[in-house]
Amino acid sequence: MRSRSHLLNDRTAEHYRRSLTEGIGRVAEKIAGTEHPFTGITPSQLAPAVTGIDLEEPLGDPAAALDELEDIYLRDAVYFHHPRYLAHLNCPVVIPAVLGEAVISAVNSSMDTWDQSAGGTLVERHLIAWTAERIGLGTAADGIFTSGGTQSNLQALLLAREEACRLAQKNSAKPLRKPEILPRLRVLTSECSHFSIEKAATLLGLGAEAVVSMPCDDDRRMRPSALAAELERCEREDLVVMAVVATAGTTDFGSIDPLPDIAELCERAGTWMHVDAAYGCGLLVSRRRHLLDGIERADSVTVDYHKSFFQPVSSSAVLVRDQAALRHVTYHADYLNPRRMAENAIPNQVDKSIQTTRRFDALKLWLTLRIMGAAGVGELFDEVVDRASEAWQLLRDDPRFEVVTRPQLSTLVFRYLPPQPASGTLADEVNLHARQALFASGEAVVASTVVDGRHYLKFTLLNPETSIDDIAAVLDLVAEHAGRRLTARQGGLDSRRPGTDPEPVHPRAS
Ligand SMILES: Cc1ncc(COP(=O)(O)O)c(C=O)c1O
Repeated sequence: MRSRSHLLNDRTAEHYRRSLTEGIGRVAEKIAGTEHPFTGITPSQLAPAVTGIDLEEPLGDPAAALDELEDIYLRDAVYFHHPRYLAHLNCPVVIPAVLGEAVISAVNSSMDTWDQSAGGTLVERHLIAWTAERIGLGTAADGIFTSGGTQSNLQALLLAREEACRLAQKNSAKPLRKPEILPRLRVLTSECSHFSIEKAATLLGLGAEAVVSMPCDDDRRMRPSALAAELERCEREDLVVMAVVATAGTTDFGSIDPLPDIAELCERAGTWMHVDAAYGCGLLVSRRRHLLDGIERADSVTVDYHKSFFQPVSSSAVLVRDQAALRHVTYHADYLNPRRMAENAIPNQVDKSIQTTRRFDALKLWLTLRIMGAAGVGELFDEVVDRASEAWQLLRDDPRFEVVTRPQLSTLVFRYLPPQPASGTLADEVNLHARQALFASGEAVVASTVVDGRHYLKFTLLNPETSIDDIAAVLDLVAEHAGRRLTARQGGLDSRRPGTDPEPVHPRAS
């Protein structure tokens, strides 16, 4: 009987209310009292606390379990809502979406079939139609929510592969089997695209050489001339370009490939155009919508609401121009979605998805749009894009740093420049050290990446609460850590700026 008291049902509604209220209370306290984005704890310091817990010995009591959770997770979590978390593509979340999260897990609909979700199916479909309309995909468009950009890209490329094989078979004079076509398939994408494109190609049974990297210009956008040349080469060599993947918001630079030019080339070559707008999709609701011009000509689009719509993980979708393409993932099973259901127009979302059991993630976006509206989301995204532009000016005018590109979205790739000539290796070392030292201090979290073979640091701004003073303060900290390592290495002082003295210097107040 005691175990049954943990099941959520008509008799335990009060237990549910108390349990969640207590849990939410603790998280609210935590969120309100977070002074740094991280505590700086190391894996070896934290691991014993977790592995030392005997999972055969339940605590029974939610309060005790939450106390324990404080020690093993909440105290040392990385908090994305903190204004000095500036690392990866993680956003602070909006409260309407978190409210949705609570509803999702309590009702626990599964989106595979109508008989497991009912209204949830219609909500998801309405949001897909709304997104497709914002993109401008036309009346035949459709799509499905997924677990993230990686899965959205995989599904898009799966559909593209199937379409390419179908067309190759149709246009061949002699019968062609699929295994004969697969080694000839190519995916063309920029050298700055996300690694999920390569993962998808591998999962789709294509060879390692299937993904061909197109060079970028100085702003890290795909060069259309290179794409045109590669499309011609593939044609000459009897290779089949199954998709061109344009990125609308590259992970490192936030750069947006020239979508109209790419669309033109794809149309001329009869090639599937996929736009990975995992990051840039926030522009769909922003005053900078024009930056996505050309996206409406895509055959498929990835959008990650959990990046630039301020949604909790997971919340993503893949959209297609022609709903018929989704038939490539339609399989029927007597135990779940027999063919007769489709014939009777029963809306089973599993017919469009590569997942079976699937969360009702769409509800978070629904409540967000119903409570704060699309313009409210766009305003938040515009704020971080504005902030990135200010931060770029700050970096450009600061002799301690070099910044790679002027941002179209909200990332900044930059590095500390040693004042006296230093080897590339030493410059790499001090930048990597600065990132690591900052992470260990817990005062701020920044990311790193490699550009043209050299190590750089990266800010990904997704928090409208991050002020320009926060950014200036973090730059001082970076310079301080890098300068100290440099001094230790060179045995001298970096005297250009107070922030680079060997003695600790406190960051500018925010
Ligand atoms: C451009 C781009 N595409 C795809 C992805 C993968 O998205 P997810 O992490 O949601 O799978 C990312 C992640 O950062 C990304 O930046």
